[in-house]
Amino acid sequence: MARIRRRLIAGNWKMHGRLKPAVAEMRRLAALVRRAGRSRCDIVICPPASLLVPLRATLAAAGGLRRIALGGQDCHSADAGAHTGDIAAPMLADAGARFVILGHSERRADHAETDALVRAKVQAAHRAGLIAIVCVGENLAEREAGAAYRVVGRALSRSLPASGVTAANIVIAYEPVWAIGTGRSAESGDIARMHGHIRRRLGRLGPGLEACRILYGGSVKPANAAEILSLADVDGALVGGASLKIAEFRPIIEAAWAIE
Ligand code: 13P
Repeated sequence: MARIRRRLIAGNWKMHGRLKPAVAEMRRLAALVRRAGRSRCDIVICPPASLLVPLRATLAAAGGLRRIALGGQDCHSADAGAHTGDIAAPMLADAGARFVILGHSERRADHAETDALVRAKVQAAHRAGLIAIVCVGENLAEREAGAAYRVVGRALSRSLPASGVTAANIVIAYEPVWAIGTGRSAESGDIARMHGHIRRRLGRLGPGLEACRILYGGSVKPANAAEILSLADVDGALVGGASLKIAEFRPIIEAAWAIE
């Protein structure tokens, strides 16, 4: 039986990537996907904003634009204005992005982003026609205090706008903060339970929202990708460090292909 939700593997390059090596990695990814024939899952790369335009050109030249999408890592809640150093959602769209990551725990920690701000950014992303990848996840203290489900449920309902949200314009990424960049991913049982919790919560937030794709993020790597991607309610992965080199990202994509 065909899967209802198409898997999505997203690479979050964070503040990594200089022009020449980034173009070379993107060429490798495009070649990999081209060789595989039909695209068997959605692939998104979210590079630093400075690389969107050159990477879009790289993909266009390599025939990869239909198979690999680009995304931003953040956007401002306004469409334009006096906000030095920020980037607006329509600018990301102009640069070739179709997705934008919002509410990543690093943004929440480094820039004190609140759920209310994330919600306003989601609205900005939607005004620009972008698909928002909204990140939620508990920190270690919250997990140890037994508060993970409450924290994630609350972040979810507060970070999503009350209207205009559909399963087509939102992707949720569950990223336990303690698993990000630590090499220590969450246990399979915990991931499956949390994703089930998120899906039930989404169903209560709006009609049809239980059909949203829910990604897991936090130390996804070649060694654990197949197991994580086969879990109930896991529709893909948001990959940080292991997405920077296509040699490491490739087995993660292939794991998604293998279970399709
Ligand atoms: P790592 O895969 O490096 O743990 O990062 C996860 C992440 O934060 C993706 O957004």
